[in-house]
Amino acid sequence: MRIFTMFLLCFASQMLVYDWPLATFAISSSSDTDKLALLALKEKLTNGVSDSLPSWNESLHFCEWQGITLLILVHVDLHGEIPSQVGRLKQLEVLNLTDNKLQGEIPTELTNCTNMKKIVLEKNQLTGKVPTWFGSMMQLSYLILNGNNLVGTIPSSLENVSSLEVITLARNHLEGNIPYSLGKLSNLVFLSLCLNNLSGEIPHSIYNLSNLKYFGLGINKLFGSLPSNMNLAFPNIEIFLVGNNQLSGSFPSSISNLTTLKEFEIANNSFNGQIPLTLGRLTKLKRFNIAMNNFGIGGAFDLDFLSSLTNCTQLSTLLISQNRFVGKLLDLIGNFSTHLNSLQMQFNQIYGVIPERIGELINLTYLNIGNNYLEGTIPYSIGKLKNLGGLYLKSNKLYGNIPTSIANLTILSELYLNENKLEGSIPLSLIYCTRLEKVSFSDNKLSGDIPNQKFIHLKHLIFLHLDNNSFTGPIPSEFGKLMQLSRLSLDSNKFSGEIPKNLASCLSLTELRLGRNFLHGSIPSFLGSLRSLEILDISNNSFSSTIPFELEKLRFLKTLNLSFNNLHGEVPVGGIFSNVTAISLTGNKNLCGGIPQLKLPACSIKPKRLPSSPSLQNENLRVTYGDLHEATNGYSSSNLLGAGSFGSVYIGSLPNFRRPIAIKVLNLETRGAAKSFIAECKSLGKMKHRNLVKILTCCSSVDYKGEDFKAIVFEFMPNMSLEKMLHDNEGSGSHNLNLTQRIDIALDVAHALDYLHNDIEQAVVHCDVKPSNVLLDDDIVAHLGDFGLARLINGSSNHSSNDQITSSTIKGTIGYVPPGRYGTGVPVSPQGDIYSFGILLLEMLTGKRPADNMFCENLSLHKFCKMKIPEGILEIVDSRLLIPFAEDRTGIVENKIRNCLVMFARIGVACSQEFPAHRMLIKDVIVKLNEIKSKFPC
Ligand SMILES: *[C@@H]1O[C@H](CO)[C@@H](O)[C@H](O)[C@H]1NC(C)=O
Ligand SMILES: *[C@@H]1O[C@H](CO)[C@@H](O)[C@H](O)[C@H]1NC(C)=O
Ligand SMILES: *[C@@H]1O[C@H](CO)[C@@H](O)[C@H](O)[C@H]1NC(C)=O
Ligand SMILES: *[C@@H]1O[C@H](CO)[C@@H](O)[C@H](O)[C@H]1NC(C)=O
Ligand SMILES: *[C@@H]1O[C@H](CO)[C@@H](O)[C@H](O)[C@H]1NC(C)=O
Ligand SMILES: *[C@@H]1O[C@H](CO)[C@@H](O)[C@H](O)[C@H]1NC(C)=O
Repeated sequence: MRIFTMFLLCFASQMLVYDWPLATFAISSSSDTDKLALLALKEKLTNGVSDSLPSWNESLHFCEWQGITLLILVHVDLHGEIPSQVGRLKQLEVLNLTDNKLQGEIPTELTNCTNMKKIVLEKNQLTGKVPTWFGSMMQLSYLILNGNNLVGTIPSSLENVSSLEVITLARNHLEGNIPYSLGKLSNLVFLSLCLNNLSGEIPHSIYNLSNLKYFGLGINKLFGSLPSNMNLAFPNIEIFLVGNNQLSGSFPSSISNLTTLKEFEIANNSFNGQIPLTLGRLTKLKRFNIAMNNFGIGGAFDLDFLSSLTNCTQLSTLLISQNRFVGKLLDLIGNFSTHLNSLQMQFNQIYGVIPERIGELINLTYLNIGNNYLEGTIPYSIGKLKNLGGLYLKSNKLYGNIPTSIANLTILSELYLNENKLEGSIPLSLIYCTRLEKVSFSDNKLSGDIPNQKFIHLKHLIFLHLDNNSFTGPIPSEFGKLMQLSRLSLDSNKFSGEIPKNLASCLSLTELRLGRNFLHGSIPSFLGSLRSLEILDISNNSFSSTIPFELEKLRFLKTLNLSFNNLHGEVPVGGIFSNVTAISLTGNKNLCGGIPQLKLPACSIKPKRLPSSPSLQNENLRVTYGDLHEATNGYSSSNLLGAGSFGSVYIGSLPNFRRPIAIKVLNLETRGAAKSFIAECKSLGKMKHRNLVKILTCCSSVDYKGEDFKAIVFEFMPNMSLEKMLHDNEGSGSHNLNLTQRIDIALDVAHALDYLHNDIEQAVVHCDVKPSNVLLDDDIVAHLGDFGLARLINGSSNHSSNDQITSSTIKGTIGYVPPGRYGTGVPVSPQGDIYSFGILLLEMLTGKRPADNMFCENLSLHKFCKMKIPEGILEIVDSRLLIPFAEDRTGIVENKIRNCLVMFARIGVACSQEFPAHRMLIKDVIVKLNEIKSKFPC
């Protein structure tokens, strides 16, 4: 705070600190000390030449020292109220406290300053009313109170202060009428009441103020009309501002006689009628603003007044927009003053072509002739307007190419050519308009690819609207360099390809509209990191992916339109997805989940997020041979997932189904195939468990050749089988399952077996538990599949060794079939599954198949493991399991891992005991596996 003030010294009631450029004075409450300090200040100010301030001596009270007639404390961050002590400064003539933070009311004590000539309190935070006692300050010539929070009415007592020359009450909250009595202030030169809530008519008395140069009543609620004989009243008027009121009536044609006039603004009222053709007399006119009225009578002569304005050689601003002017834009436009800086004629009914002579208005910085009926091409001469910052030609009927001369508009920042009939491509010369910030070419007939280099230099771009044209080719990846870009509208064009990755760097994007194009690929998850996005529209394209959950993170997103694509999978529920009215998903057939209001089918019960398995709700799904033929592209080899003696498995998709399906087409020539089909289809609908592969439907039909056709439709498991994960070393390492995953898979399969054996009314023996029948989804959750050999067991689920089988012996898979059963007629029992499961555990542990060459009659996988427990455990385990611990030199971790591996091996061995009665119960297996899991990392 920098304060130099005499009067503050006079208050002298508290400790004050002054920060004067020359020195800092601390002045105590004693007025003697004040006086000493002030004398010291005088010394500094006068450089010791004592004569300069003769009255500043000890004999007078310092408040009466000469020179305290002027108090100027401008923009020094003064807070608080204006001190009442100001009234003690009887000699004060000027109080200028402009631009501080003064609060409270204007103190009454100010009336004691009877010599006051200028009260300047503008730009503070003063409250209360404009005091009526100003009417008693008979010397006052300046009353400047604009930019405060004053309320109430304008006191009519001001009429008494005939010395008033300047009244500025603008930018307050004053209301009521303008007092008629103000008309008595015949010395008034400057009257500004703008930006208040004043209402009523402008009192006619005001027009008697013949000295008035500045008349500002803009932005109030005044109504009524302007007098026609204004010239008599305001012979000296220079600035006349009554815009933004509710005034009406005709144009005050006598204005043409006010030859002193420089600025005339009556915009945003309800004036009507014609503009006189006599304005040419206003040779000092700089600013003429009649926009936003109802001028124009619809005759072809509406615009004739423009030719008289060509006489106004100082004219720099001509605003006639938003009226009802009808007429041609003529060549006379070239006759306007070259001072013309801003020309706005938008929203009228101006027709004809844009005259070539427009190029002569070389000082134009702002040209708006949008929203008219202009035709023809954009003149090449537009390139001469080198000072143009804004060019608005939108909403006309312009055709032809965008002129290449646009390259000369090197400081152009806004270019609106939208809603015309422009053709051809965007001229490459646009690259020279490097200051462009807002560009719209929307709604034209523009075409062609958009080469990268076209926009790369336009680093200041904030808006780029190219929507509703016929642009082709990919979305330029260089858009990613436009770091300021906030709105990008490319919708309704013929853009193709994918969303370029580089867009990820457009972190300022608030609107991204890509709808109605030929885009494809996936919705990139990086869109979720465009933090400012409010509107995202990629509708009506061919995107075929899941919806990235990252979109949930967009806190400001208000509208998300993903409709009419080929999106599938789970709809997120967080963020914008929780607001049913903000999102549009229609026209995507394979979506599931989301909030209930969306009424989408549920996804699989799997709680995790990544969509993988289809919902099983569709139990009544019926498919024909034709459906499956179509679903698999005619059983094409590219859809083939695998084949064996039983038949072939294909991947496919059904139009009314949300997720990919796996279709097992049975080879009916294989013995038992038909039986296995029946066995498997019988289990359809009876078994539901998260660790069982879901059979969606069975199809028994005839093919196009009339041959029998049988197929089973499953949910598709993207990670394929445990078999592949363990043994398919293609892309080495990528398939590696870590120990935790293997323990989880073991638990999954154990749960599946527990369910089959113990939890359903009629127990089921799978009879073919092996890694290739354990399928893994995206989250590596295991699902036991292939019930082709499954057998139902009558009676209780208490599976003692007495359990009966319902059919004769059946084949399993060598290595996994319990001893003695393979081909020998040993009854099918749940313990058989346990055996196979035990082998599966050992296979997961060792990475070795039971049919591995190293095993023979005397050394089975079971025996091999059994003899290495516990000491030799690290010799037999799959070496990939030890990789994460290779760095451990302490041996502590190794020891813990070893314990886990031993426990795991023991379960495998116990399950694969030769005699069924010796095998572990599946419930105990689950307990043990959970124990390992809870200890892990052991
Ligand atoms: C104003 O002057 C009157 C007498 O003229 C006096 O009584 C009053 O105290 C003065 N007020 C201030 C604040 O100086
Ligand atoms: C108030 O003081 C400032 C700073 O000296 C000056 O620029 C301004 O013109 C003054 N206001 C009036 C109305 O005299
Ligand atoms: C302008 O002033 C002249 C006299 O100086 C007068 O004859 C004429 O009527 C006035 N025009 C208007 C429109 O008031
Ligand atoms: C144009 O201005 C001149 C003065 O510069 C004036 O004499 C003349 O009458 C004006 N013409 C029109 C048409 O107003
Ligand atoms: C054009 O504008 C510039 C800057 O506003 C000004 O200096 C120059 O005098 C103007 N030229 C004309 C012919 O008005
Ligand atoms: C563009 O500028 C160049 C050089 O300043 C000039 O030669 C050319 O005539 C200009 N074009 C237009 C249309 O003004």
